[in-house]
Amino acid sequence: MGLRRRPTRKERVLAQYSSAEAPVYYVQAVDGSAPEGKCLRSRLQLLQDLLADCPPGDLLDAGCGPGVLSKALLTSHGDAFRITVLDQSLSMIRYCRASASEVGEVRPAVGQLEALPFGAASFDVTVVTGALEYADAAAAVREIARVVRPGGLVIVTMLNPGSPYRLVEWFVYWPLLRMLAVAERLLGVPVDRRHGMAITGIRTLSVHRLSRLLADAGLRPEKVVHYDFTALIPPLDRLPALARLADRVTRRRASADALPDWLATGYLLTATRAPVPDPPGRNADDLRIAPDPAASVTVPD
Ligand SMILES: C[S@@+](CC[C@H](N)C(=O)[O-])C[C@H]1O[C@@H](n2cnc3c(N)ncnc32)[C@H](O)[C@@H]1O
Repeated sequence: MGLRRRPTRKERVLAQYSSAEAPVYYVQAVDGSAPEGKCLRSRLQLLQDLLADCPPGDLLDAGCGPGVLSKALLTSHGDAFRITVLDQSLSMIRYCRASASEVGEVRPAVGQLEALPFGAASFDVTVVTGALEYADAAAAVREIARVVRPGGLVIVTMLNPGSPYRLVEWFVYWPLLRMLAVAERLLGVPVDRRHGMAITGIRTLSVHRLSRLLADAGLRPEKVVHYDFTALIPPLDRLPALARLADRVTRRRASADALPDWLATGYLLTATRAPVPDPPGRNADDLRIAPDPAASVTVPD
């Protein structure tokens, strides 16, 4: 009898997002009161604000998931953008197309971020939110740079590896949930009542590392925006009264612009492709991106 092979990271990510229920769970999370919902909504708001000033054109939503962003853009911007959605999960793409059809139209594509099935310079705007963490980031960034037109805009987001919230979630909270699941299994707790946390395949990069990847791919990193500030750590943020209180405090401080970046659970980077090619040798150092002390983080198995 052969030993069962451990699934690769890629297989785990595919499995996580490929079930027929995955799109519904994701959309429910966006609408729900759990901390994931708060993070997703603040990312969505930030993107809509950024794209409000963007000239119309061809937009690629790469790693689109169930298409929450594309649907929101179709609703708020009408037909300003011709939107193409891409995901490696067929169930996400099917859901995305059906859901977008309530308000407009998207062009669907099943494919890999690391090998985009589009010609060079096909899009004016390429958006990759919540997906680079699961991909081979360097290969994906090269592909994103290839498909964006000269003068075009790239927007990427990343979970913030320097945030205490994420560090506690990845190195304490999730491992504890997994240990609890093992104990519950040994104690005969029924499967549907056990805790646990699937292995996610998340790998994150600091602002500095991601900026460097963008620059190495021929893009100019421009703006960094941190989002979803929180003073709590998991699982305290799952206590509604405490979460509401922390939210009120951080919102009041955020309006005074007094919150440090490391309190944000995610960040967004914008980059542009030069209208004419940059001279050879131009890199992140030329762009004066300050080194960022936060290490890049691979979430443990
Ligand atoms: C967390 S969801 C993000 C969805 C959406 N972009 C958003 O911000 O709501 C991540 C999505 O990325 C997709 N994905 C992960 N790795 C990918 C890859 N290498 N190529 C294409 N899609 C990928 C997953 O299938 C999943 O639908």
